[in-house]
Amino acid sequence: MQHDTGRKRILVTSALPYANGDIHLGHLLEAVQTDIFVRYNKLRGHDVIYVCADDTHGTPVELSALRQGISPEELVETARKNHIRDYSGYDISFDIFYTTNSEENRHYAELIYENLLKKDLVVEKEINQYYCENDKRFLPDRFIIGTCPRCKSEKQYGDVCEVCGVTYNPTELIEPKCGLCSKPPVLRSTKNIYVELAKRESFLREYIGKPGVLQDDMKNFVKSWIDDGLKEWCISRDGPYFGFRIPGTENKYFYVWMDAPIGYLSSTDRWCKDNGGDVMDYWEKGSPAEIVHFIGKDIVYFHALFWPVMLDSSDFAVPSSIKIHGFLNIQGEKMSKSRGTFILAKEYLEKVNHPQASEFLRFYYGSKLSLTSADLDLNKDELMSRVNTTLINNIGNLHHRAMIFCERYFENELPAVAWDKEIALQIEAAASEISAWYEASEFKLVVEKVHSLGSVGNKYFQDNKPWELMKTDKMAAASVIVTCVNLIKALAVFLKPIVPKISASVEKQLSASFGWDDYRFNLSGCKTGTVEKLVAPLESAHLDELFTAQTVAACADQKDKKERDQDGLIDISAFTAVDLRVGTVLTAKNVEKSSKLLCLSVDFGSEKRQIVAGIAQSYKGDDLIGQQVVAVFNLKPAALFGLVSEGMLLAAKDKSGVLTLVGPKATVSLGAKVA
Ligand code: 2FM
Ligand code: ZN
Repeated sequence: MQHDTGRKRILVTSALPYANGDIHLGHLLEAVQTDIFVRYNKLRGHDVIYVCADDTHGTPVELSALRQGISPEELVETARKNHIRDYSGYDISFDIFYTTNSEENRHYAELIYENLLKKDLVVEKEINQYYCENDKRFLPDRFIIGTCPRCKSEKQYGDVCEVCGVTYNPTELIEPKCGLCSKPPVLRSTKNIYVELAKRESFLREYIGKPGVLQDDMKNFVKSWIDDGLKEWCISRDGPYFGFRIPGTENKYFYVWMDAPIGYLSSTDRWCKDNGGDVMDYWEKGSPAEIVHFIGKDIVYFHALFWPVMLDSSDFAVPSSIKIHGFLNIQGEKMSKSRGTFILAKEYLEKVNHPQASEFLRFYYGSKLSLTSADLDLNKDELMSRVNTTLINNIGNLHHRAMIFCERYFENELPAVAWDKEIALQIEAAASEISAWYEASEFKLVVEKVHSLGSVGNKYFQDNKPWELMKTDKMAAASVIVTCVNLIKALAVFLKPIVPKISASVEKQLSASFGWDDYRFNLSGCKTGTVEKLVAPLESAHLDELFTAQTVAACADQKDKKERDQDGLIDISAFTAVDLRVGTVLTAKNVEKSSKLLCLSVDFGSEKRQIVAGIAQSYKGDDLIGQQVVAVFNLKPAALFGLVSEGMLLAAKDKSGVLTLVGPKATVSLGAKVA
């Protein structure tokens, strides 16, 4: 909201973490990104609330509670306490951290459902689902265990194979068993409730096209989902299910992804009740307030398509901006429990043996974050070098030199002399650049700029040699110190959203509490407090326990495996073992119930083969007919969605995930070998 005063009202959220897991460094990447944005906007004097909560419903929570012999309610209460503790270790400044298992959330879930019904966006359909006659319940995906239809790995869940990554319907699992009692389930028909998203296609097209809603690297991606046709979205699950029962049904519950985002709305309501506000100041359709969601790239579909439809159909405001980040890797590897590259928030604090460990992680993340969905790597050497180069050797050094000088030669009193006008002007110009970068969530540019201003300060101090000036022109020396202290103050203001504790230390030494405008030079003829070092160096030894204990070992292990094969190189026999051949696509059809797969018939001359390929989000079947493609011809056949695939197509995947099939540049004879 832009008042006459320029004061905006902004509601900011991070994605709601699942109650059944601990907070890890990936959650923190998002929380730090959101928190920097929140703190910056608060520093500018805007009316901001930062809302988050635990995502409590659904099968995983029910399963963990069952395993631990406690109730789901007990489990989610403990989880919430732990999550609050973990986030606060990194100074994440939520205004509220609530829960989706609340009466407010039930109220809004029912209200939104009622409105979806009124708008004629809901249909019921009968489907076949696995049922355990022993446990007397329908089995959700995670309650069914069997063999993967594609790679034949055993003990896989009903929705996705953790070994080969393929997704499927539970009915495709080989030898399915009930996850509770291990007996084979039976198929039973049951009714499910669906939201007809396609009816809101034109609204969604207009919505995602609005400036600021989606960042550039995501727009086409989301648009392609709409182009591919919006599917009906199933929002019901059969009981027993930990969640809210759907009004008007006996035993159906809202699917967890239906009530999870509603947690943003219900937690705002709770905050308003506790703080004397009105939830509609944020969520009323047409309200001038801004709603900003920070999320990871894996949950864009829910936030950019389902959620706006739910809101708009109930006459609530839709998000003004959905800011999407990539995944966190550790030392170049995916975070993975089995590989030991999975670092919990509390574990980092326990193992990094440095009092500023949390502030350093915030700084490191800040120095790498920009508004992109590209993945981001946490690397031990880089963490050390970024912290030491900028915070220790540059800013900490300038601060210490100037403040100690003031203490020694001016008895902690900044003389009443003018500062260097040129440097004050540089800061003025930098302030508008830096505020634009904060607003655009380009935090790494903020850090780069602050670093370069720190270098300007250090060079200025060094070139002007105040220790020599003291002998010849005390006032000139005083001016150098006044300039440097004002410069340090400006940098502490600029960095306050990223490293609030380091900034607070500068505030304490200057007896101030900074607002944004305090970047301006205004100190001279005033007292300074006792000098304290802002930061202590980060050494390898501080990080050894964290990185040696598991991650480095795990990564070295990966590397080792590659090194055994001569640094990841293969010899020619490994390549020639792959039989690549050119074929022409005869037919290409969508695979029922799959948004990703196309089923092709490909002519290789000697024979025609059926190939099921995960390219439906990049190609329409009709466009492929007659095209020449390259396929792995000697791959073991695999079943996908009940269809046998007798080969695999080669395709290049660009950053946005779009696939381009590989083929010969000129037409070649069918079955031609690629070598
Ligand atoms: O992916 C997740 O971790 C979900 N718990 C995020 C939910 S965000 C919102 F929609 F509630
Ligand atoms: Zn069973």
